[in-house]
Amino acid sequence: MTASDAVTDALRELHARFAGMRGGERADYIPELTRADPDDFGLALVSMDGHCYSAGEADVPFTMQSVSKPFVYALALSSLGLDEVGRWVGAEPSGEAFNAISLEPRTGRPANAMVNAGAIVTTALVPGTPDLPAFDRILICLSRFAGRRLDVDEEVYVSEAATGDRNRALAYLIRSTGTLDVDPVAAVDTYFRQCSVRVTAVDLAVMAATLAHGGVNPITSESVVSPAVAAQVLAVMATCGMYNASGDWLLRVGLPAKSGVSGGLIAAGPARFGLATYSPLLDPAGTSVRGHAALGALSERLGLHLMRNPALPGSTVTLATTADVLPSAPASRQERALHERVGIVAAQGALDFTAAERVLYAMDESGPEQTGSVVLDLREVTGADSVALTLLHAGLARLAEDGRRAAVVDPGNRLGPPDLVRERTGQDLPRYSTREEAVERCAQALADPG
Ligand code: DON
Repeated sequence: MTASDAVTDALRELHARFAGMRGGERADYIPELTRADPDDFGLALVSMDGHCYSAGEADVPFTMQSVSKPFVYALALSSLGLDEVGRWVGAEPSGEAFNAISLEPRTGRPANAMVNAGAIVTTALVPGTPDLPAFDRILICLSRFAGRRLDVDEEVYVSEAATGDRNRALAYLIRSTGTLDVDPVAAVDTYFRQCSVRVTAVDLAVMAATLAHGGVNPITSESVVSPAVAAQVLAVMATCGMYNASGDWLLRVGLPAKSGVSGGLIAAGPARFGLATYSPLLDPAGTSVRGHAALGALSERLGLHLMRNPALPGSTVTLATTADVLPSAPASRQERALHERVGIVAAQGALDFTAAERVLYAMDESGPEQTGSVVLDLREVTGADSVALTLLHAGLARLAEDGRRAAVVDPGNRLGPPDLVRERTGQDLPRYSTREEAVERCAQALADPG
């Protein structure tokens, strides 16, 4: 979006607020990174609908560095599964710097896939074939996450390869413990290449949004990794993504995140958004100073902390009453008495476990003394996940066992295929297109139970 909108305004405001922040240094142990412009500062946010917002230098290219680690971890998990990957690399915060020469005492595994030792192992786990070498596979995967073809900054790659003895030392140490059954030089070379993949802040926001969106790129709609893998990666980002500053980051900013020494920083709000910043001046933990400040302020301002309840209370059930109070209720006292015994529960939006529990509770409570019938109106429901469906089916089955009749207003078939509903609820549940029709049938059945 270029015209002013509220989200772009929020990003521009952060840009203006933190652009003048002067702390931090460019990483110099990879000499090429010292060429970065210290004034560059870009921010980008991508929503689950693929809307992209940005401010500042959001299109300036830089190398991914450690921001590549969660995405290559995702590739290894997709290729081998969590159990196999977990044999070689742990999932515990190390409490140490990203480049610590340190392995788990008993197993010899690196602590997690976010520190260099773990990332070298993760990269080495990515299978390669003569037709598709491991690095090509990695580049294809990173490009799918970004939704465009990425490339390597050869100067940065050469610069890191020339000065990367600490990482080589780590790879040899890992092999000496028996956990890495590959050539340490080759493994580190692939790792250096992956760190040198060129992106922009907008690319990184799309990549983070893909993790937040259950592995589906919200711009291209391509399924890059499974929802399970996306969740596993976000979990490790939340606990380990910011190295020895991970606890404080989760406490204050409250989002799974990953930093990189070229100045990139991503954060993901599961099922909500992907965020990225770029600014090359780093704090001692290797995190962009302006990026940290901006994401912290944005989280505070927009209430993005993961541990804050994202659901608005009461937003699922829009009506819980009895049919006699509806405008369509009949005038005669006799008929009204029947309508009094027809409970109405209407729901809206997307139904997950939390929302389904609200619906079921409202259904249980509907109707005087919980007798009579219940009309469940699902017309405003936009979707239901498998957990919500299982719960709703079980709740409808229980109502029938209790001798209460249920009717569902469900022209959009939100409750699932009739065969499945019959199997799970043990009945041919009547489904109607209008609420009036469903209420009328329930009232008639109460009048004539035979
Ligand atoms: O391995 C390295 O040292 C770099 N290629 C990446 C380190 C990094 O980005 C640490 N994160 N803040």
